Amino acid sequence: MTRFGIRKRLKGLVGKGGRPEITRYGMTFVLPDGTEQTVQAEEHYTLAMASQFLPSPIATSCPDGQCGLCVVDVIEGAGISAASDSEQRVCKKIHGSFDPARRLACHARVDGDGAKVKVHQLFDYDSVRGTD
Ligand code: FES
Repeated sequence: MTRFGIRKRLKGLVGKGGRPEITRYGMTFVLPDGTEQTVQAEEHYTLAMASQFLPSPIATSCPDGQCGLCVVDVIEGAGISAASDSEQRVCKKIHGSFDPARRLACHARVDGDGAKVKVHQLFDYDSVRGTD
């Protein structure tokens, strides 16, 4: 027995077989230049997290989901979670109302196959790196 029973607790978290089962769903991003890219995103990832598989992820600029920079247009809503109260509140604050066709990528989560969203802004690595 390890101190505090850590080994036993970890086994309980991940199951006896070792690694926990991870479910992934296919979803498509339409990039600002019009190209489409399909990725396999883990269940419950936010759309922003799922965009890590793109050449550049969706641009985000706040740590607490309040800025609205990460907004995406929903082309196919299957596979995207329902909007939370906090997402609806932020959208109302930013856009004046909540439109289910415009979601915040840092709030909306992947919960099935077939989601398709249009991304307005990708993260600009050059703005961080500088030009020299
Ligand atoms: S990154 Fe600020 S609201 Fe999504």
